[in-house]
Amino acid sequence: CITYVEHLKMNSVKRLAQSSDLKSIPSTYAYSTNSNEFPASDPQDSIPIIDFSFLISPDTAVRSQVIQDLHNACKEWGFFQVINHGVPETLMNMVIEKAGEFFELTDEEKKDFEDKDVREPIRYGTSFNTKKEKVFCWRDYLKLIVHPEFHSPNKPLGFSDVLLEYTKRTREVARGLLSGISMSLGLDHSSIEKALKLESSLQICIVNLYPPCPQPNLAIGLPPHSDHGLLTFLIENGVGGLQLKHNGQWINVNRTLPNSFLVNTGDHLEIFSNGKYKSVEHRAVVNNAFTRISVAVANGPSPDTAVRPAHELVDEEKCPAAFVPMKYKEYVEMQQSNPLSNKTCLDRIR
Ligand code: SIN
Ligand code: FE2
Repeated sequence: CITYVEHLKMNSVKRLAQSSDLKSIPSTYAYSTNSNEFPASDPQDSIPIIDFSFLISPDTAVRSQVIQDLHNACKEWGFFQVINHGVPETLMNMVIEKAGEFFELTDEEKKDFEDKDVREPIRYGTSFNTKKEKVFCWRDYLKLIVHPEFHSPNKPLGFSDVLLEYTKRTREVARGLLSGISMSLGLDHSSIEKALKLESSLQICIVNLYPPCPQPNLAIGLPPHSDHGLLTFLIENGVGGLQLKHNGQWINVNRTLPNSFLVNTGDHLEIFSNGKYKSVEHRAVVNNAFTRISVAVANGPSPDTAVRPAHELVDEEKCPAAFVPMKYKEYVEMQQSNPLSNKTCLDRIR
């Protein structure tokens, strides 16, 4: 039996899971008392698919169709799979592999990056915010600010190079999608780009590691939340665990399309679109057999931009601004300084 103090000292759920004969989880991880508390089902319809190559098609009808597809995906789901995006599959696989290797470094090596302050550009830690949480998440993480300035640990060998290339390529895909999303809102293709100063967009890479858990139905990998930013890109190591809320029901994300990104809309797209495109709640569950690794890249506005609803989408009478402006970096700090919980951050600026 591991005491509270002992496990806090470990500061890693990976270490905790490896400790000999762990048959039950420490009470600080008991998110639920009953395994039926978070039922999820499989989706009835598949998560929308966006063919990225259609956005640059010479055929106007093809471009109009994909903009309509983006509109439906953002409006009905807030999640979509992006195919034909041009980012090599080998690069995506390398990111997962190297990210996983980071967690294999010794405690001594990882200690340099231990989470001290939410403003640090490189943060390694466990759960989400152990200083504020009553219940811990079954998850270790590495969070890196990768744009406008690139930060990465210098180990494992090759990680930083792979990440630099991957995050640059995902930024290009994000800008392409956001230009399509601008048009899908009835705006000029460069509206989001210009208003939110995407050339200096804040991009954050979050690596999540969820070790096998002896009581997966009692623990949670990440509790229900929406993401800050505009679009989050997710890839994983072939082990499922993500669930999203669709029409009030939790559903499993069973991804079938190879070499695709799972993209979801964030709080700042909800703000910019004045509530037309809602950020969608999702959560990560854990299992007792496999380690799950996911890499999420959050693509946001520039850090110093005060984000507000697009003026074209505000009408004092019919559709007043639903949010008060707040600088993106201040929003991120607020989100990171509190326990992760539903849409509580967005609710604060309504
Ligand atoms: C996240 O919500 O940021 C990551 C969820 C996951 O690991 O699938
Ligand atoms: Fe998330």
